Amino acid sequence: MKNKIVAGNWKMNKTFSEAEELLVAVAEGIDDMPLNTEIIICPPFLYLEMAADVSEESKFSVGAQNVSSEKSGAFTGEISAEMIKSAGVDFCIVGHSERRAHFQESDEVLATKVLRLLEKDIVPIFCIGEQLSEREKGEEFKIVENQLTKGLFYLDKDAFERIIIAYEPVWAIGTGLTATPEQAQKMHAHIRQLIEKQYSVEVAYNTYILYGGSCNSKNALELFSCQDVDGGLIGGASLKAEEFIEIINAAETSVKSN
Ligand code: 13P
Repeated sequence: MKNKIVAGNWKMNKTFSEAEELLVAVAEGIDDMPLNTEIIICPPFLYLEMAADVSEESKFSVGAQNVSSEKSGAFTGEISAEMIKSAGVDFCIVGHSERRAHFQESDEVLATKVLRLLEKDIVPIFCIGEQLSEREKGEEFKIVENQLTKGLFYLDKDAFERIIIAYEPVWAIGTGLTATPEQAQKMHAHIRQLIEKQYSVEVAYNTYILYGGSCNSKNALELFSCQDVDGGLIGGASLKAEEFIEIINAAETSVKSN
């Protein structure tokens, strides 16, 4: 089994001083861990520079939660890929279901955001996942295929190889309703098959597919032990250093025990 990625999506949480405290606590907590897991912390824009500073002496990388689809100019309130890169950011979440739902981000806009990030050498963490009503109708595989096709499959092989995918079933986000390991594995295997069909077996194997949705220290090991689950995108449980570090430990254990 390949090494894992554990990414923390803080969403719109923490004040400046709380953010600093959490960054330092995570940095200290992982300091003496012989880590094989790649750790990415995605705080709000405001704290990216501070996170990048702390990360210089630590074992985590920094990601943004969003980026503008525009390059620069008169777009009040927007933040460009070039700006986040200049703050020391190497990753960026794109297409989170909260952005799709609350900010009406279409597949087309998301595809442009992916391009903007790749142009600046930032790795997109591209989120896909179905709503509960879609799963109840048995449409989850079709929905995910559609999101992948429109959001990513226009990329050539070299560009696609730089993408991380996060499968986050919308019904599991912030609800305490985690997908079972069987549900997660089935969808991750499906995603990998689609990548294989579009690109190749090798690209499919090498693509990181993370699970997100009420993942915590209690269920992480079981989820991460699934063959096609390459780690997690963690929301609420990334807001407490101890809990986040336990999830990182689970990622390490899942690789060792395989
Ligand atoms: P929760 O872990 O809080 O369910 O959030 C998952 C998520 O949306 C990560 O991007």
